[in-house]
Amino acid sequence: MKSDILRELARERLPRAVYDYYVGGADDETTVRANREAWAALELRPRVLVDVSEADASVELLGHRLPSPVALAPTAFHRLAHDDGEIATARGAGGRLMVASSLSTVPIEEIVGAASGPVWLQLYVFRDRELSAALVRRAEAAGCVGLCLTVDVPVVGNRERDVANHFVLPDSMEMANFSGLLQSELPMAGGSGLAHYIADQFDASLDWGAVAWLRGVTRLPVIVKGIQHPDDGRRAVQAGVDAIVVSNHGGRQLDGAQATARVLPDVVAAVEGRLPVLVDGGLRRGTDVARALALGAAAVLVGRPYLWGLATGGAEGVARVLDDLDHEFVRALRLLGLPAAAALGPEALAPVR
Ligand code: GLV
Repeated sequence: MKSDILRELARERLPRAVYDYYVGGADDETTVRANREAWAALELRPRVLVDVSEADASVELLGHRLPSPVALAPTAFHRLAHDDGEIATARGAGGRLMVASSLSTVPIEEIVGAASGPVWLQLYVFRDRELSAALVRRAEAAGCVGLCLTVDVPVVGNRERDVANHFVLPDSMEMANFSGLLQSELPMAGGSGLAHYIADQFDASLDWGAVAWLRGVTRLPVIVKGIQHPDDGRRAVQAGVDAIVVSNHGGRQLDGAQATARVLPDVVAAVEGRLPVLVDGGLRRGTDVARALALGAAAVLVGRPYLWGLATGGAEGVARVLDDLDHEFVRALRLLGLPAAAALGPEALAPVR
């Protein structure tokens, strides 16, 4: 399949440790596989003899009209894939929503400057809260329109590829949002450097109070990413967050966690339409995007596919991957007999027997 072919091309170009970091998951990578398989297992139910001469792929999300429901998931360290790093990614994103990782190799200001669509900053909360708060203020000043709080990394997943490869950033790159602040603390000794870093810096005591804390330091919409249980969906509504992302971090955290395609309907039901629900994890085809929206997702995030585009073709490579997904999505809409993304609902899926 197309995304697998591109992944293989990227594998040939990238240093082994970088490819492994991007492609890998936790433990036996069961959830990485399950994410993809669960989308494919959802059977579609097309309607016929409907006028689909036009098909509108756009969606509304937190006050923005997005040209496509496909958005860019936060992924770290893009200069590992291409010299232009996150600048290339932002250019390739076109008018789509980009969620920029805090762990970028280009500062958030330059990412926003290169983007033509809306940018959210993905946020980890550090033990040193002021470090996170300072980054939030910079993101606001730079023009980010949302803060995406990642809540599924109290500790890092057991990524055995990174441990074996002693995964670290090369000296020529830095965590550009924290330039001069944390570089010296990047450990070099043994195992995965990233895992040591997370253990040292991330706040494992984080609880729902973090949402209130974030509200206190920003007026931007707060999106909580990493919801995997309907009760946490309800908690998010109570906590007053603006949107949530059903995510298991692309299978990189808790291996054995349920595929997002299977969690999504329960979470959508639990939040009762009170906030938009996004989803990521294993979406590789336009038909997967259609399946996600049919289950109630407001938009989807993709990560690895655009990284393969970045590694093989820079900004153009990113754009090609995303354009392909969009075209596939529009074709899926028309073949389903639906004139618009907004028309997708549960009736587009066969009942599960
Ligand atoms: C960072 O968030 C990672 O998943 O490596």
